[in-house]
Amino acid sequence: MSARLVVLVSGSGTNLQALLDACADPAYGAEVVAVGADRPGIEALERAERAGVPTFVVGVKDFATRDAWDAALAGEVAAHRPDVVVLAGFMKLVGESFLAAHGGRVVNTHPALSPAFPGMHGPADALAYGVKVTGCTLFVVDAGVDTGAIVAQSAVPVEDDDTVETLHERIKAAERAMLIEAVGRMAREGFTLDGRRVRLGR
Ligand code: GRF
Repeated sequence: MSARLVVLVSGSGTNLQALLDACADPAYGAEVVAVGADRPGIEALERAERAGVPTFVVGVKDFATRDAWDAALAGEVAAHRPDVVVLAGFMKLVGESFLAAHGGRVVNTHPALSPAFPGMHGPADALAYGVKVTGCTLFVVDAGVDTGAIVAQSAVPVEDDDTVETLHERIKAAERAMLIEAVGRMAREGFTLDGRRVRLGR
C-alpha cells in the first residue's frame, strides 16, 4: 500500500510538483492525499488542483490566536490520515498542537546545509557569509527553527557571480532531487529516529 502524504505549501510549489510527478509512478510507493496552505491564491494550490488532489487553506489571520490556528491546521491534516507530512516551502512554524498530533512524521525542507543558516533567508545568508558550498536539508520537524534531526542533505556550490536568486534556483534543483529520493525511501522502507540520528529502512 502507498504511504499517504499530506504536503503543506505557501508558495510556488515546485517541490510539491516534484512529489506529485514522482507519485504518478506506482512504484514510488507514496501518494499525495491532500495539499494544505496557510494562504489562498498561490501557485502551489493550482498545481494540486491540476493534479486532482484535494486542497485546504488554514490562514493564521482567520483565528484569534496562533495556537488556535495551529490546532485547526493539525485537525485538517489529521483528517487525511497521513503517514508522512511534508512541509514543502511552508513558511510558517508549526506549534505544540501540530507536533502533538503529528510529531515524528513531519519533515521539512530547508535551503541550507543545517546547522548553518537556519530561518527564512538560507540562500541570502549563505551568500552574505561567503561560503563556497551550501545546499539543502530535509529534517524531522521539532519545536525549533530548522533544528530537527537530519534525514538527508545535498551540497551545492556557490559561484562567484551568484545572486540570491541564482543561488536559490540551484539549491531548489538539488532540493527537489533530495526530497523525492528521501521521501520515497521513507515511504517504501520506513525510517527510525534514534536521538538526532535518522535511519532510513527497517
Ligand atoms: C524552497 O527552497 C524551500 O526550502 C524554501 O522555499 C522554497 C519553496 O519553493 N523555504 P517551492 O514553493 O517548492 O517552489
